[in-house]
Amino acid sequence: MPSSILGEILESNLKSMHDLVSLCKRRGLIFQSSEIYGGVGGAWDFGPYGIELKNNLKNAWWKEMTLREDVVGVDASILMHPMVWKASGHIDGFSDPLVDCKNCKERYRADQVDLTKACPKCGMKDTFTDIRQFNLMFKTELGAMADTASTIYLRPETAQGIFVNFLNVQTTMRKKLPFGIAQIGKAFRNEITPGNFIFRTREFEQMEMQYFIKPGTQAEEMERWKEERFNWHLKNGLRKDKLRWAPHPADKLAHYADAAVDIEYEFPIGWGEMEGIHSRTDFDLTQHEKFSGKSLAYTDQADGNKKFIPYVIETSVGCDRSLLAILCDSYRLENEGDPENERVVLKMAYHLAPIKVAVLPLMKKGDLEEVSRKLFKNIGSSFKAEYDNAGTIGKRYRRQDEIGTPFCVTIDYDTLKDQTVTVRERDSMKQERISMDNLLKFLAEKI
Ligand code: GAP
Repeated sequence: MPSSILGEILESNLKSMHDLVSLCKRRGLIFQSSEIYGGVGGAWDFGPYGIELKNNLKNAWWKEMTLREDVVGVDASILMHPMVWKASGHIDGFSDPLVDCKNCKERYRADQVDLTKACPKCGMKDTFTDIRQFNLMFKTELGAMADTASTIYLRPETAQGIFVNFLNVQTTMRKKLPFGIAQIGKAFRNEITPGNFIFRTREFEQMEMQYFIKPGTQAEEMERWKEERFNWHLKNGLRKDKLRWAPHPADKLAHYADAAVDIEYEFPIGWGEMEGIHSRTDFDLTQHEKFSGKSLAYTDQADGNKKFIPYVIETSVGCDRSLLAILCDSYRLENEGDPENERVVLKMAYHLAPIKVAVLPLMKKGDLEEVSRKLFKNIGSSFKAEYDNAGTIGKRYRRQDEIGTPFCVTIDYDTLKDQTVTVRERDSMKQERISMDNLLKFLAEKI
């Protein structure tokens, strides 16, 4: 047990992103992309535990959004007609101001460096180039023959795949306003300064929902969605004092919005945007109508078949960023400096944990393993479980703590006599003896 004088667990939060990066690599959560070739900037790979966590998070969002009458899902393709990006304003306006240092060639976002001072990397003064606009969209070519190929873009947001399908979904699903369309998918931005682990990357996943509403109702709908979205982050276990609202000032609003607010999380690097809730007016649908020449008007049967372009409230959360917040928030170092009791534990919400139950035979012995394997098979058909028989039991507990496994089930010699097992809970480390017959029911109630 922990060794503080009062016997309580002394715990501290994550102090630096570096500690998290190293845990994620050590424990198979997240690896640098193409690591054996020296890596590629702004891209990360999710390992076996990372993808379980990510899928759990995506499932939690998907359920929250679509287990209701007024929201349906889509999965639009990443490659879209280039005119989509002309209409949306991304070709002309989706850019960041860029400067290079002429001496050391380091590249900066002009709004993130003091151009009147020396280059932060090489220390030389007056070496910055003029500011130029750098479009963040990745270009590629559609078609096999270079001479007939046409430029096409990797989508920089998933939202446009929803807008262009608005009428397809509305008519086929016979939806009346207000209703929403949800989507999870990859987005790509050629960020000038990616970094801070998976906070800012060049390839990431978004979980976006466009809620189509009658013009004039945007203020009340925005309030409703703000509350719903904030609560979702709380349901994921994020601590309330680590979350805050950051409204966009009127003069900084994106060209498409008449109101916008971010939900920020306090990462070890400081407060950062995790989700945006935007009142996008009728901008996108109007633009697509204009550029495609196809009517995207909604026919209001309840109001004499009046036709109009709906307004939109958008909720847009980065899957990777929200996952980073969950990792940062759940990371605890307990009893630091106490060799017997020090541990790192990811105290995340049970429903997000990559592995729910670890099955641990006390020893690598035939009779214990036989019972353990049988139990593992039984548990594994209901919960994502892991079998581990390597190393001391203490080490195995620590391994599971570091990936956030809520329950460890240990099979020992008493099990053979009385059919009971020890169940250890992750956060309290409390252990209780439970009959194997009741184990699945016990776990189902807790998880
Ligand atoms: N459709 C609206 C939209 O894309 P955004 O504020 O540009 O809005 C929404 O992006 C969310 O996507 C952000 O709050 C963030 O969580 C995530 N995101 C944006 N750029 C990102 C990047 N380079 N790396 C990781 N996540 C990113």
